[in-house]
Formats: sequence, C-alpha cells, structure tokens
Amino acid sequence: MDSLAAVNWQAHEEEAAAAVAAATAADELEEARVRYLGRKSELAQALRGVRDRDTGMLLNGIRQRLEAAVDDREHALAAEELDRRLREEVVDVTLPGEELPVGHLHPITQTRRAIEDAFLGLGYEVRDDQEVETVEYNFDKLAFEPTHPARSHRATFFFDDTRVLRTETSPSQIRIMEEKEPPIYMVSLGRVYRRDAIDATHYPIFLQFEGLAVDRGLTLADLKGTLLHVMQALYGRERRVRFRTHYFPFTEPSIEPDVSCGICGGEGCRTCKYSGWLEMGGAGMVDPQVFLNVGVDPAQWSGFAFGCGIERVAQLRHGIPGIRAIWDGDLRVLRQF
Ligand code: PHE
Repeated sequence: MDSLAAVNWQAHEEEAAAAVAAATAADELEEARVRYLGRKSELAQALRGVRDRDTGMLLNGIRQRLEAAVDDREHALAAEELDRRLREEVVDVTLPGEELPVGHLHPITQTRRAIEDAFLGLGYEVRDDQEVETVEYNFDKLAFEPTHPARSHRATFFFDDTRVLRTETSPSQIRIMEEKEPPIYMVSLGRVYRRDAIDATHYPIFLQFEGLAVDRGLTLADLKGTLLHVMQALYGRERRVRFRTHYFPFTEPSIEPDVSCGICGGEGCRTCKYSGWLEMGGAGMVDPQVFLNVGVDPAQWSGFAFGCGIERVAQLRHGIPGIRAIWDGDLRVLRQF
C-alpha cells in the first residue's frame, strides 16, 4: 500500500485523461483504457486495497471521470470515423463515368459498305465467294491464254496443279453465270492474293470488288454510266471518269477507268503524278468466249464487268498515304478514319 499511497492521484488522473484525449483510433483508446482502468491498472489495484472512506471517494471519483472520458472519446472517434467515411466514400452519381474506349469500323469495312450501298442503289446483288479457287475458275473459264504470266507460280500462290488462292474477284463472274440465268446484276467483294513485293501501293493480300451486268443490249455506254455513278457515290459528285483502252483475257473491248484526282481537282499534283487522273482498276465488255464457257448465248446477251481494289478506294477517300498503313493495325492511324 505504501507505493500506492505515494501515488499523486491528481497527476495520475491528468496523465490518464491526456492519454484518453490523445487517442486517435479505437485501438489506441482501448490501450489507454486497459492501462488506466483495466483490472491490473494502478487505479484498480488501489481500489481493491481501499480501507477508508475518503480514499474510496477520491479513487471512485477518478474512475468515474476517466470512464466517462473514455466513453466520450469513443463517441467522438466514432463520429469522426463516420464523417471521414461519408466524406471519402461518398459516391457522386453526377460525376462523369470512367471512359471506356469505343471503337469504330475499320476504314476498309466503311469503304466496303459504301461500295455495297452504291451498288445496292442500282439494284445489284452483293456476293462473297471462295478465296481458294480452282485454276479452272480463276483462269481457264475466264479465257486466260495458257501462256498468260498470271498463271506462273512466281505470280500466283498455288496449292497444287489445280488450286490457287484467287488472284482476282473475276471468278465470281463465272460462278454466278453458272448459277443463274441472265439478267444478272451482281457485285462481289473479297480478298485476293498475288505474289507481289510489298511497297506503297502493293500488298500480297488485298481486296477487290467485281461488278458484272448481263442483260439484253448492254453497251460500253452502260458501263461508263455505271462506273460514273459508283465513282461519284464514293468520291463525290464533282468527280469525272475517263477510260483508256487496255487488255484483259475475259473482256473485249477492255478499258481502264480513271477518276479525276480529288487532291488537285485535275490540275496535276504528286498524288496523280501530274496527270490529273488516278487509275481505278479494269473493266470491259464480257468476252463472247466467256459467255460460251458458261453456256450463255452471246447472240442474245451482252454484258460488262469491272474490278477495282478496295484499299485503293479507301486510300483515295481518306487520303491514306500507303496501303501498309491500312493493315498495320496501328490504332493511332486507324482512329483518324
Ligand atoms: N480482274 C481484273 C484485275 O484484277 C480487273 C477486271 C475486272 C478487268 C473485270 C475487267 C473486268 O486486274
């Protein structure tokens, strides 16, 4: 008891009250409570040894005040904690949400759909044929001469003697004419393959669209009007179209359509190599031999066909400098179109 009797209870109470007040979290408060009010605390021990009324009143008074202080601190801490959580965990439903990247159609898909739309507007049916073709459909029935350079293994991907990766969409002409009787108005879009070295305008895999019209009395004038309509639908109404003579095994006569350069308006610039015109592809009147190869009577029916590269159209519509930019998959490029 001597040691306890020596305790300065006033100082002890101040120390305990300060510890309680200093607690900034529930565990710190509990620590202070155990230390100053717990079963082994100096106060509890002293209370157990109390013999006289004055000391009992003094120590009980200290205990009651300290217990009240702990209770108060506990409520204060709980209120602070609630405030903090209300402040920090509040959900402001008016804030804009986290932005999710939303993609868009690849420029080739956009172009493909624009082409399909232009032809659907003319009443054409849209087709998508096989990419693994037979030599018969890719070359023979399209009247390619036996010595035509495209038949070379250096120009074309062969699986074996009879099968190739199609080099153009023109086999679709054969397939649809074997499938149905004229009149035929179709456009076929899809991938074609050639063993070309990669440069600004060449890639071994690319896309083409192929048009075929077979009806009574079709002439070159119909072909020209059709191509003008499509080019203006794709590039704008101010564009003009011109034809140069050419050669293809499956058309006679054959032509190459050019569209006036949209960069310089036909004045001449680097893009059009100072000619004012851009090459669009190949076209012509269906060769009578091709009609005979598919059992269509060339005395009754005539037709025209044309084929163009789709990447080329996308490049010219959007001013994309090289074909590689289209297929590299670099989103910094593709997001712009
Ligand atoms: N198939 C030819 C090519 O890829 C283009 C073409 C299509 C020419 C239809 C005439 C008629 O070069």
